[in-house]
Amino acid sequence: MISGSVRRERMGPTIAGWVAAALDTSIEVDRIDVADVTLPDDSLLFPGGGPKSEIADRIAAADAFVFVTPEYNHSYPASLKRLIDWHYGEWRLKPATIVAYGAQGRHAAIEHLRGVLAELSVVTTRRVTGLREPWASLDGQGRYAPDADLTRGLTASLTELRWWAEVLADARRDRPLST
Ligand SMILES: Cc1cc2nc3c(=O)[nH]c(=O)nc-3n(C[C@H](O)[C@H](O)[C@H](O)COP(=O)(O)O)c2cc1C
Repeated sequence: MISGSVRRERMGPTIAGWVAAALDTSIEVDRIDVADVTLPDDSLLFPGGGPKSEIADRIAAADAFVFVTPEYNHSYPASLKRLIDWHYGEWRLKPATIVAYGAQGRHAAIEHLRGVLAELSVVTTRRVTGLREPWASLDGQGRYAPDADLTRGLTASLTELRWWAEVLADARRDRPLST
């Protein structure tokens, strides 16, 4: 799971906690918070990634991704785009789902992210999750506690993600794609 916001006072970890609670306990989950990652200077980037980053092996080890992202100015944040651009083969031929949140928007962040992921040969699930004003649905402990419909929708997208993860893990092993 990759959480894309880095602001000091942010919703990202709260939403990531909600997603983590919905994941099947049989799944091994690696939580990457972009705020904890130091990437090299962008002057070193080249097409297809850059020098190996400190989290390249963690991304490479994953069979699927959940992107948790806010919407900033009708898209997803630059912090997340940087993390994506710093890797290339690590993403390839794997599935992802997206959980986006915002004040009014979230669809633009989702669709912009889908387009970028497609360029990296990442398949996104049909079902994705968009949360409007999640800060209005916190429980007494500050956890995100939305209507059951939203949690059901998230679970459906995670079920779809797991199907893709299994299918594509087999395909990467048995039918390598050379192009
Ligand atoms: C720079 C900036 C731009 C934003 N632009 C949008 C926007 O275009 N649409 C929207 O719905 N919310 C927008 N918001 C509200 C954020 O989605 C909301 O503050 C959210 O909590 C941000 O995620 P974070 O707390 O994890 O950083 C914006 C917030 C920031 C800081």
